[in-house]
Amino acid sequence: MKIARFSRIGFILAAAGSAVGLGNIWKFPYIAGEYGGGAFVFVYLITVLMIGFTIMIAEMLIGYLGRKDAAASFAALAPQGKRAWSWAGMMGIWAGLWIMTFYSVVIGWILHYIGVTLSGLPATVGEAEALFGTMLSEGIGTQLFYHTLAFVVIAAVLLRGIKAGIERLNLVLMPILFAIVGGMFLYALTLEGFGQAWAFMFAPNWHKLGSEAFVVAVGHAFFTISLGMGAILTYAASLPKKSNLVESSLSVVALDTLIALLAGLTLFTFLYEYGSAPAKGPGLVFISLPAVFFEMGGIGTLFALLFFIALAFAGLTSAVSLVEPMVQYLIDRYDYSRLRSVVLAAGFFYLVGIVALLSNTEAFGGILSFGGKNFFDWVDFITSSIMLPLGGLLMALFVGYVLPKSEVYAALHESMGRGFALWYGVLRYVVPVALLIVMLNLLGIVRF
Ligand code: TRP
Repeated sequence: MKIARFSRIGFILAAAGSAVGLGNIWKFPYIAGEYGGGAFVFVYLITVLMIGFTIMIAEMLIGYLGRKDAAASFAALAPQGKRAWSWAGMMGIWAGLWIMTFYSVVIGWILHYIGVTLSGLPATVGEAEALFGTMLSEGIGTQLFYHTLAFVVIAAVLLRGIKAGIERLNLVLMPILFAIVGGMFLYALTLEGFGQAWAFMFAPNWHKLGSEAFVVAVGHAFFTISLGMGAILTYAASLPKKSNLVESSLSVVALDTLIALLAGLTLFTFLYEYGSAPAKGPGLVFISLPAVFFEMGGIGTLFALLFFIALAFAGLTSAVSLVEPMVQYLIDRYDYSRLRSVVLAAGFFYLVGIVALLSNTEAFGGILSFGGKNFFDWVDFITSSIMLPLGGLLMALFVGYVLPKSEVYAALHESMGRGFALWYGVLRYVVPVALLIVMLNLLGIVRF
């Protein structure tokens, strides 16, 4: 079995590395923009802090007590006759690989944009739009090349395992990422646009908050802290004995929220300051921003470079956590070598990722779209808005109702003290009801 364990700081950085990802820097600003800012940000924050943090402790606990891959940890902890719970883990493991199919494509765009920055940023929004649009709809070769590069790097890290691969990667990349985001935020603070950015992010405009915005905000809360698919669970299985799960969960949630808010405020400040119309949708950081960086002059090029490097780092540290659960599963369940497991798991996201990539192109978009969304967007929607909240709900039910209370209490009371009763109550009653409302809403049964 596993001998390599995370160090304390290694685990926190790896879990934070998983959480802080494209979700924070690429996705959060554009969906916040799409759904009108304030009210959306509010729902997202409440969900992360109340529901996310609560489930994060539960998910960590399953890995920490189970000590196995995501599926087997459920089975090991479930009482006789309830082993079917391992299906909850199985669903999560697959959700991660499916997320990776489009995640890797986006990491590819980012790597490509590091090159774009070096060879000259687009001078206007129009140019930037043309550049991104062309890459997306016609640049099959380019996208394929960088998707492949992302795949190679991710597989190489995973091959080295938990300690020499994942922990090392995060120990090196995460501090650099924090420094870049922090530094750019400090610069944004000095600009006038900051006030507008602040107002946009925090002034609630409730009329924009329809059912869809609500579901997306909750889905994003799960996505951004890597909840509900067993990534955190799988990492927690390699925690040293006697770890403080509450403190770790809190650090991860706090770091993730901090980075999302800093990145959002910084990007919107730049956009307001340099008068560029924020492009709606996934193109925000690839269209509006490059043009803005160009406007900024010399320092802009440096910022652009640092920004895309930070984004690439955020993406890579998350990517390894999306694939590792399947790798660990294949190793545990079938006794495969790590090499074979990595080839299978990474090979899956690589190949299906090509389909996601093609679904954005002009040539193949038509046949790869159905029901108003293309393949790429469907995978994003089904995984983040359905599978993650469902996975989170199952984890909450498992820890709240299936595990004996005494066992849960024994593992947590030292770090929680009197907070235990509150946490347990929220887990058993608030979380399931809240998530049920989200699901019913999603199915169109409850509308508001
Ligand atoms: N949290 C990452 C982000 O914000 C994405 C991610 C990594 C993830 N691992 C996950 C999402 C596990 C859900 C589950 O980009």
